[in-house]
Amino acid sequence: MSRHYLEVLDLSRAEFIEAVRTAVRFKSAGYPPDGLRGRTIAMVFEKPSTRTRVSFTSAIRRLGGSYDYLASTELQLARGEPVSDVGRVLSRYVDGLVCRVYSHSTLETLAANSSVPVINALSDRHHPCQALADLMTVFEVKKTFSGIKVAFIGDGNNVATSLMQACALTGVDFAIASPRGFWVPEEETKKALEAAQQSGAEVTLTDDPEEAVRGADFVYTDVFVSMGFEAEREQRLKAFLPLYRVTRELLSHAKPDAKFMHCMPVKRGEEVEAEVADGPRSVMYDQAENRMHTEASLLYLIYRRWRWL
Ligand code: CP
Ligand code: NVA
Repeated sequence: MSRHYLEVLDLSRAEFIEAVRTAVRFKSAGYPPDGLRGRTIAMVFEKPSTRTRVSFTSAIRRLGGSYDYLASTELQLARGEPVSDVGRVLSRYVDGLVCRVYSHSTLETLAANSSVPVINALSDRHHPCQALADLMTVFEVKKTFSGIKVAFIGDGNNVATSLMQACALTGVDFAIASPRGFWVPEEETKKALEAAQQSGAEVTLTDDPEEAVRGADFVYTDVFVSMGFEAEREQRLKAFLPLYRVTRELLSHAKPDAKFMHCMPVKRGEEVEAEVADGPRSVMYDQAENRMHTEASLLYLIYRRWRWL
């Protein structure tokens, strides 16, 4: 059975940092053109995607590999074929599965039945590929992971969970402000706190956005209504607004040179003011670009250095 990347903490601290450093090198020096030669990746997506889909396919092509994009609605999955059979069968055809799913348990079932690496391209619980690009962006700006603080304001969702765990793993201080009822799930926070104990990172949980951003080098937010949660829209907007919107005023409580981060897509005027998202302190397009570099490095390391397969 292979190893998988379903959540940030599936990598060791050394592996995560190696993935970031390799991505930085790929970005400046180019990708090894035969890094994935002879390898095929199946991309199974249950939800829409712009960045994840195109950054993966572009990275795979640049590394000389090939891929198959499979919308889940076009697979027998849509007619009720068991996820376990999909895992068993696809892993006989390809060298890896990159999967975006509604329920994290779908990924766990796929992984349990796959003889090739399964990579989480977003689930309701985790977005570990996003976190790699986020920490690469932090590293690009600061050139270090030590003495840095990232603040997340808003929904304790998949992006927040993976970011919290990635900061805890790499030794970056992390603070999150969410309204009660929208905190990162307790068991995920517990794992982050354990990782933070090892790395020395400080993790702060609060419902006060001003407290979270105080002294922050980066202020991060994500949408209030993630894919799959559309039915909760009204209830969510009531809980989050106006306190949890990232505004110029809120940013003024962070460090004077603090950067704004967002995984995108952005709802301007909802979780963030347009002036912040599109302003000079925003690094969200760098994050989006870095998705491709970190996914290239992750795949390269999985097949060529870590030898998961
Ligand atoms: N950030 C992110 O995962 O974007 P997509 O939904 O466009 O892939
Ligand atoms: N939290 C968002 C992230 C999208 C990239 C969602 O799950 O829809």
